[in-house]
Amino acid sequence: METQEALRAHVQRYVPAPLLEARRAVIRGVRRARAEWPLAALQLGRLGTLDYRRRGVLVGRLLDVHANIVCAHTHHEMVHILREVFAIADDVPGVIVEAGCFKGGSTAKLSIAAAEIGRRLIVFDSFEGIPDNSEPHDKTLFGDDARFAAGSYAGGLSEVSDNVRRWGELDVCEMRPGWFENTLPSFREPVAVAFVDVDLAASTRTCLQHLYPLLIPGGVIFSHDGHLPLCLEVLRDRAMWREIGAPAPEFSGLGKDKLVAIRKPREHGGNRVTSDWRKAPRGRSSSPRASS
Ligand SMILES: C[S@@+](CC[C@H](N)C(=O)[O-])C[C@H]1O[C@@H](n2cnc3c(N)ncnc32)[C@H](O)[C@@H]1O
Repeated sequence: METQEALRAHVQRYVPAPLLEARRAVIRGVRRARAEWPLAALQLGRLGTLDYRRRGVLVGRLLDVHANIVCAHTHHEMVHILREVFAIADDVPGVIVEAGCFKGGSTAKLSIAAAEIGRRLIVFDSFEGIPDNSEPHDKTLFGDDARFAAGSYAGGLSEVSDNVRRWGELDVCEMRPGWFENTLPSFREPVAVAFVDVDLAASTRTCLQHLYPLLIPGGVIFSHDGHLPLCLEVLRDRAMWREIGAPAPEFSGLGKDKLVAIRKPREHGGNRVTSDWRKAPRGRSSSPRASS
């Protein structure tokens, strides 16, 4: 460590400042390219019926959201979720659900996709941040610190709504303010895709208990908390899944990734989620963003 410090001091003393600045700019550029490559892939690859230009507009809007609203997710994670949203077949029912919106960055992005495919986005959050809790979070699976104090990750209802109005598509959103245990039990709509990003094990459990039964066959709930050992315990809780009822979910990323996909099998036939989306009539999000 000391050697590193000494080396840094040495470099700063003898290497000309413009050269150091150029080096920093290159490092920043490489970091940015690494963070944003999933968006480039989104524009280049197939996405529902969106042609190259409309995918470009979508990508531009996602970048705008990310630059203007504090987001607690990466482009890589959001692209993963959006691909699933755009893969919902036209003939299946289901809203998009978000549980845990923080400042509305993920909400704005999901709302753009929801508007594009003509579906509603239902947003559950306290709008007061994380609830009071005594969950002993410590380290994530990746060794980072994890602490979730009451009131952290707060975004007020008007702040979130303003953000989504400005950068996303507020018209397709329905905000359901309150603690999950109060707002989710009366929710009854079929769910096609859900993004559950709630940090606490108790909140994760409440969301799964109420959302999984509403999930259409083939539908997916993404948990953004697969890196937190206490949340992972919930995802792996067989007794909970038995209680929730059949069919048992299929997981991907469990125990490996922060973003875990929980898919309801299609074994009961009927509704399907497919990636064949060619016939779909389209919405409006790929028209250039109306500035505020
Ligand atoms: C990490 S933030 C969400 C980040 C956001 N999805 C993003 O990507 O920017 C977690 C959110 O979960 C909400 N939350 C956690 N537990 C909750 C509960 N039991 N009831 C209501 N909201 C809760 C908090 O208010 C907070 O907005």
